[in-house]
Amino acid sequence: MLSTVLTKEWGLHYPIIGAPMAGVAGGALAAAVTRAGGLGMIGVGSQATAEFVLQEAAMAAEAGSFGIGLMVWALAERPDLFEAAVRARPHLLSLSFGDPSPYVSRCRTSGIRVATQVHSREEAIAAERAGVDLIVVQGNEAGGHTGAVATLPLLQIVLDAVGVPVVVAGGIAAPTGVAAVLAAGAAGVWIGTALLVSTESRHSTEARKRIMDARETGTVWTHLYDDIQGLAWPQEYAGRALTNAFTGRWDAQATQHTPGSRAAEAFRAARGDYDTDYIYAGQAVGLVDREASAADVVRLLGDGAEAILRERLTTLLAGT
Ligand SMILES: Cc1cc2nc3c(=O)[nH]c(=O)nc-3n(C[C@H](O)[C@H](O)[C@H](O)COP(=O)(O)O)c2cc1C
Repeated sequence: MLSTVLTKEWGLHYPIIGAPMAGVAGGALAAAVTRAGGLGMIGVGSQATAEFVLQEAAMAAEAGSFGIGLMVWALAERPDLFEAAVRARPHLLSLSFGDPSPYVSRCRTSGIRVATQVHSREEAIAAERAGVDLIVVQGNEAGGHTGAVATLPLLQIVLDAVGVPVVVAGGIAAPTGVAAVLAAGAAGVWIGTALLVSTESRHSTEARKRIMDARETGTVWTHLYDDIQGLAWPQEYAGRALTNAFTGRWDAQATQHTPGSRAAEAFRAARGDYDTDYIYAGQAVGLVDREASAADVVRLLGDGAEAILRERLTTLLAGT
């Protein structure tokens, strides 16, 4: 069995956290990851409702521990989402894409652990000062919204900068990736793209097909979809999505799009058509080519990483 703070103190069987993914990871996926021995999380988008949070949390709670992921930039206008998340009593609350510090003490007094995804040394140091329990190094390879720095340099920088447990998000979808970051000193992994076509994800059949067909070269890190929807994402974060005809046509334009632009009009007319609409996915999509249950994904990553570490470390250190 792999042994890190997540298995020793958090009670997980595998040091694997199923990433919160708005629109994709609801209560069913979170429950499946937790049942498999990881920690499943529910993604809450800026347009979600408090009822959604409570309903999905109730489903996840049937499996035991679960987490909820909120976007900090949205909470000033949507304090109801934070209130609902606290009321749902998750094991872990992720407060990402903004300063988590105003929310940490409330979580502490409610017995909820706090995580935040970081994208620079500065964000990691600020997160540790704010008192979070877990820092998530989220590299630019990650699916969905992320910062500009790639996973590997960011991991080395953050491991050097902070003392709180660190897990890694961005580009990990095979046992080799899990083994690599654990060997480097991470306490676990935070997996999104690897679960996009799991049986329990909320994705449609068509979206699943596009994800399975996509290669590692078929994603783009773009503000396009945020701008045309008028979403108030901070400029330092953009979304990594599959490329399609729409991103090919509009993403390279130097002008900033708005909800009133021609691109936005075309987008609104074609929701659900993935030549135009978005499918957020990371570069690890090149490793995702078949549907499997979330349990199979978690076990493959966890058991596979353990086997690799046993064999590889013995070979590497032979003769020393
Ligand atoms: C479809 C999708 C939706 C996401 N939604 C959220 C979200 O609601 N909140 C959040 O904190 N992160 C979100 N993320 C980012 C994930 O939490 C995670 O950092 C990322 O998936 C890890 O990288 P990977 O996709 O390479 O595994 C999303 C990612 C994807 C792919």
